[in-house]
Amino acid sequence: MTAPTPLIAGNWKMNGLTASLAEARAISEGVSGAKARVAICPPAVLIHQMSQALAGGPVLIGGQDAHTDESGAFTGDVSAEMLADAGASMVILGHSERRDGYRETDELVARKSLAALRAGLEPIVCVGETLEQRKAGQALEVVTGQVRASLPPELLGKAFAIAYEPVWAIGTGLTPSIDEIEEVHLAIRATLIEMFGDAADKAPILYGGSVKPANAAEILHAAEVGGALVGGASLKAADFLGIVRAL
Ligand code: 13P
Repeated sequence: MTAPTPLIAGNWKMNGLTASLAEARAISEGVSGAKARVAICPPAVLIHQMSQALAGGPVLIGGQDAHTDESGAFTGDVSAEMLADAGASMVILGHSERRDGYRETDELVARKSLAALRAGLEPIVCVGETLEQRKAGQALEVVTGQVRASLPPELLGKAFAIAYEPVWAIGTGLTPSIDEIEEVHLAIRATLIEMFGDAADKAPILYGGSVKPANAAEILHAAEVGGALVGGASLKAADFLGIVRAL
């Protein structure tokens, strides 16, 4: 099996104004020699300016969500085609903050993944268990169930990534043990191979949830961890670069 090229993506969530482009420039200037593909997923309104500011550089740009449809009467929504038109090459889908806050289901996330493919974007599909589910011993069942139901068969042979983000580890400073991370990542890989066969070897499985420069090396070198999806620590170039360099 060939290890997929790692991906380290910063999810800026609802943070960042035009002034934050300076942070993105500092990230772009600091990533040379990185062993991973590096991406920033800023708020949608910053994508166009960021793609211009970082044009020709090594950093990829992504969205944080996309509608299922290409266009239409969906007030406030942004389509995958719009993200691509603004300069994105990937998109985070099914983040727990959207599954929880906007009642996004696996079925909807699968349809959004199809929209991403239609627009030529690489989907980063997020999965992860709650603390209650982990305590009840259901983490593997929940996560592999989300993987099965959130990834459409059309992803076969296409570039995509999974992000395992335990809900209880997001923004809390808590992280699972390395053994727990490896157990879930191995289960996700086995599920991907069941679904897509050997082609699934190429999809990186990112870990997300309180990744910091101090814990990045240990996490990034764990079995089947193919990069990281970083929230808070991606907002400051020094911290994000510290994570990128930990690989
Ligand atoms: P934190 O790194 O802030 O815990 O957020 C993780 C996350 O949700 C990335 O998508």
